Amino acid sequence: MRTEVIKIQTHNFDIEKIKYAADVLREGGLVVFPTETVYGLGANALDGRAVKNIFKAKGRPSDNPLIVHVSKKESVESLVESISPEAQVLMETYWPGPLTVIMNKSGLVSPVVCAGLKTVAVRMPAHPIALALIDEAGVPVAAPSANISGKPSPTNGEHVISDLYGKVDVIIDSGPAKVGLESTVVDTTGIRPLILRPGSISKEDIEILLSGVDFDSSLTGERFNTFSPKSPGMKYTHYSPNADVVIVRGELPKIISKIRNLIEDYKKQELKVGVLATEQTKDSYDCQVISIGDREKPETIAANLFNSLREFDNMGVSLIIAESIDETGVGFAIMNRLIKASGYNIINA
Ligand code: TXA
Ligand code: MG
Repeated sequence: MRTEVIKIQTHNFDIEKIKYAADVLREGGLVVFPTETVYGLGANALDGRAVKNIFKAKGRPSDNPLIVHVSKKESVESLVESISPEAQVLMETYWPGPLTVIMNKSGLVSPVVCAGLKTVAVRMPAHPIALALIDEAGVPVAAPSANISGKPSPTNGEHVISDLYGKVDVIIDSGPAKVGLESTVVDTTGIRPLILRPGSISKEDIEILLSGVDFDSSLTGERFNTFSPKSPGMKYTHYSPNADVVIVRGELPKIISKIRNLIEDYKKQELKVGVLATEQTKDSYDCQVISIGDREKPETIAANLFNSLREFDNMGVSLIIAESIDETGVGFAIMNRLIKASGYNIINA
């Protein structure tokens, strides 16, 4: 398939370029577009055939439902059976933004989008190009992250091109994504609201609005994939670079000395090792190091995580040793992605 790459600046963009991509989308094509979290691989959510092509392009299992993206809060009404007070307050507070709300679906949404479930996940992204594109298309847009299934989500245009060039009609490249982690997913269809996927909007943030919000049980516990997650996508291998990943967890001085020992061991085995470190620790190791961000500003770590994993692959590293970070706030979501990238390969320092 011929893929057109269109570079569009996030601000002061040329609306004609967006209109062109919107036509492709509405008429059944696949269009990759930027959002504030990660890039999305979009198709017209009302066109079952177009949506099937998303699964094909990504190599995504068909039992993993997609998020439907809207450009206006009012557009939700036709997609769902009803809006609960919890869903209402979440949307009023965090939309447009990195929050996905699960509600009971209406008949309008294609079963292909929801993988046969009775519920639908909806999000209004906070990115001017995403909003303009959905608006111009005039249809709700189904979009998973624009990566090959199992790879780290794409946070810039190069990531998308390396995964999906030749498999989609249009790629809109608008530079790096601001947040860098996928949206927080909250299920509002049960007795209590449940966080199915943690994100930059943290449990602490949501607790201010909703009493009794909890993590899905699959997200907590020592090895959280031993539970059966309610969000189908959370059960698959995810975010995996080609290199193996091991996480070293504990107090920071112990982490550093453990990693130094590991580097020595692995060097003896002639493995090319990389350490995913932080601004505070990046000078502690004698090997390839990427500083992922500042421990005092975890949002910087979120923004760099997926790019850093892909960078190590570009360097030809065969083993990535990652320092753990504090799991409060957005730190919980960062560690959730890192633990999955490692395949639950964690060493206590
Ligand atoms: O930030 C994001 O959410 C990005 C951008 C593009 O918007 N999208 C994204 O989509 O991360 P995806 O498909 O990679 O992840 C969607 C997650 C999956 O874990 C999926 O299983 C879950 O949401 N999900 C979707 N619909 C659901 C539903 N009806 N019930 C439970 N989980 C659902
Ligand atoms: Mg994804």
